[in-house]
Amino acid sequence: MAHILVTGGAGFIGSNFVHHLIDNTDHTITVLDKMTYAANAASLEGLPESRFKLVVGDIADRELADELVGKAGAVVHYAAESHNDNSLSNPEPFIHTNLIGTFSLLEAVRKHGTRYHHISTDEVFGDLELDDPAKFTETTPYNPSSPYSSTKAGSDLLVRAWVRSFGIEATISNCSNNYGPYQHIEKFIPRMITNRLRGVRPRLYGDGLNVRDWIHVRDHNTAVWDILMKGRIGETYLIGADGETNNRDVVAILNELMGYAPDDFDHVTDRPGHDLRYAIDNSKLVTELGWEPQFTNFRDGLADTIAWYTENEAWWAPLKEAVEAKYAAEGH
Ligand code: NAD
Ligand code: DAU
Repeated sequence: MAHILVTGGAGFIGSNFVHHLIDNTDHTITVLDKMTYAANAASLEGLPESRFKLVVGDIADRELADELVGKAGAVVHYAAESHNDNSLSNPEPFIHTNLIGTFSLLEAVRKHGTRYHHISTDEVFGDLELDDPAKFTETTPYNPSSPYSSTKAGSDLLVRAWVRSFGIEATISNCSNNYGPYQHIEKFIPRMITNRLRGVRPRLYGDGLNVRDWIHVRDHNTAVWDILMKGRIGETYLIGADGETNNRDVVAILNELMGYAPDDFDHVTDRPGHDLRYAIDNSKLVTELGWEPQFTNFRDGLADTIAWYTENEAWWAPLKEAVEAKYAAEGH
């Protein structure tokens, strides 16, 4: 598996994965990325040319996917349209990338017999009640709510069918909400941090009681690596680090860390179909593969993330105006 194809490697989680591989392994890496609005070439700056190459292209381009998959020992598929709010305003790119793009990769993987790991989300399971003691497990039925999560659910089902019908060597992981460096500022935590840095109060959708199960992006990626190396073919693994926190509490911690009163935020209109709560039972990953999260203190992880956005304003400042104009048009 000396050469790894990472799709979506110029986005948030994929770029962190590429850095992890460069720093901790001796594999060579090709990133296939369409460089949509969500990509940032600066996230991949300074990587050694002898081990890293960026190919700008669409995963749905069958010829290109075939060529690159054919040269790789393994494919880790991060590329996606990833933002729920965008999927509500325009679902079409989600169908193209998440469904047709995944199909394109699976056909190439089938032809070349390449090991494939599919990155997915806990949102495929729908949501849980706030007072439900249950968490999502690998056997929770699929019940997605948004155009984004339904296309991710569809892509997971394609992978399962290609394993069963064609015997491809694939694994799937479904992870909870990530935070950390290189996350696009349309997403909740970096939006709130960069709003604060611009003197704008945080904005909570609805009552702000929705719960997300936060995990540091580096913990997500060590789990992905363990699954790629040690996971059983055809299996699904849920990735989470017991980080359940409601949105109000996230903002309260950010406010305190940035020198404001915990309740210094505004409420804005809710997201249509807004999932209430996500929660991951990670027992299979922990007991079967021996994975352990390293970033177990959420407050410390947020402090590091605030420091990263403060020190890397050049990375996000060119995006801020357009992101906020889009939110303003949606009443957010
Ligand atoms: P992101 O939006 O930051 O990055 C996605 C990347 O995919 C971008 O670089 C984009 O240019 C690229 N891309 C989009 N369409 C493409 C196409 N047709 N061809 C090639 N490249 C294309 O997303 P992210 O937050 O890093 O998420 C990565 C993966 O992890 C996604 O599959 C997402 O569903 C999954 N996931 C995300 C989270 C989270 O909290 N962000 C949690 C669980 C799972
Ligand atoms: O659960 C995993 C999923 O987490 C991933 O599959 C998605 O790719 C990723 O975007 C994320 O989805 P969410 O919809 O949970 O993330 P988002 O950052 O958009 O919002 C997190 C929570 O914060 C959600 O309850 C909505 C709320 N929110 C968001 C924004 C942008 C606000 O209250 N205010 C905001 O301004």
